[in-house]
Amino acid sequence: MIPDIQKIARDLMVSPKGILAADESESTMKTRLDPIGVAHTTENARRMRELFFGTPGAEEYLTGVILYESSLEEKMADGTSFPHVLEQKGIIPGVKVDIGHRDLPNFPDERLSYGLDALEARLEHFYSLGARFTKWRSVIRIGDNIPSDAVLSANAHVLAHYAALVQAHHMVPIVEPEVLYDGTHTIERSRDVLERTLAVLFETLRAYRVALPGLILKTSMALPGRESGTPLHAPDVARETVAALTAAVPKETAGVVFLSGGQTPAQSTENLSCIASHGTLPWPVTFSYSRALEEEALRVWGGRDDRVREARDVYLKRLKLVAAARNGSYHKEMER
Ligand code: G3H
Repeated sequence: MIPDIQKIARDLMVSPKGILAADESESTMKTRLDPIGVAHTTENARRMRELFFGTPGAEEYLTGVILYESSLEEKMADGTSFPHVLEQKGIIPGVKVDIGHRDLPNFPDERLSYGLDALEARLEHFYSLGARFTKWRSVIRIGDNIPSDAVLSANAHVLAHYAALVQAHHMVPIVEPEVLYDGTHTIERSRDVLERTLAVLFETLRAYRVALPGLILKTSMALPGRESGTPLHAPDVARETVAALTAAVPKETAGVVFLSGGQTPAQSTENLSCIASHGTLPWPVTFSYSRALEEEALRVWGGRDDRVREARDVYLKRLKLVAAARNGSYHKEMER
């Protein structure tokens, strides 16, 4: 039976849950393990994933988990495959399918994501391993005279082509044009770039006839650049983010999920809560965090088996806070 992608998209957006992005590539995995003093080996990466996927109770806060493609074939210590252990908890397995990004010739400091070659065969394989949704990330950098129209358009075409192929293979595409936090720009500039990026993306998705009720947008928040010296102020982040999204994201889109993008766990939780409570939004919103969900637990774990339980408690606490945030009911005092 062909699954109903609109139903999968709705299931991924069910309140009060969200999505864990556990799709670190091999190079990103090194940046997770190095700071906690754990050797970057395949087995330690597997143990890290087992820490999160095996957390009892995480299913109360998660609709889905995004895996890295090799993890679709990895197993828990007891031999259960990662997709299967998630399915047993009612969590939908997903997979990141872009294979990175490269400099675009003639456009210094700008990048184009890639991975369309052989994508159809890979999608068939990922579906057979249990994936029911996918993610593709492009990166958009803010700087002097960038992003260019050409880079926004080139990335939008890649994302739209990807989304159309994924829907044809009966899975839900998450499109992620990440506008990077790095830079010295103001929050207003971040909002303008976000709005421009999303407007070009949705115009292109429509041109490729992608079904928006079967598609989820993964987006950055509008933030003052990390090196701008301006502290994050949640009401400003919410106002500017909601302004960009409501101007550019069609209401029939199945949902909007946020990445944490290098904000601290507490900042990303507070900002999400402020966004979720900023008036009535036309689509459900929730989290699809990686670092903001994993960071605190990884510090406690430090690679030690005798700390798994404590690390899982820390992870569950953060999940509970972001789940409250997605409905706008998080307060800073809950951090204590
Ligand atoms: O592509 C980015 C990840 O899926 C989200 O990661 O929450 O650490 O920004 P992050």
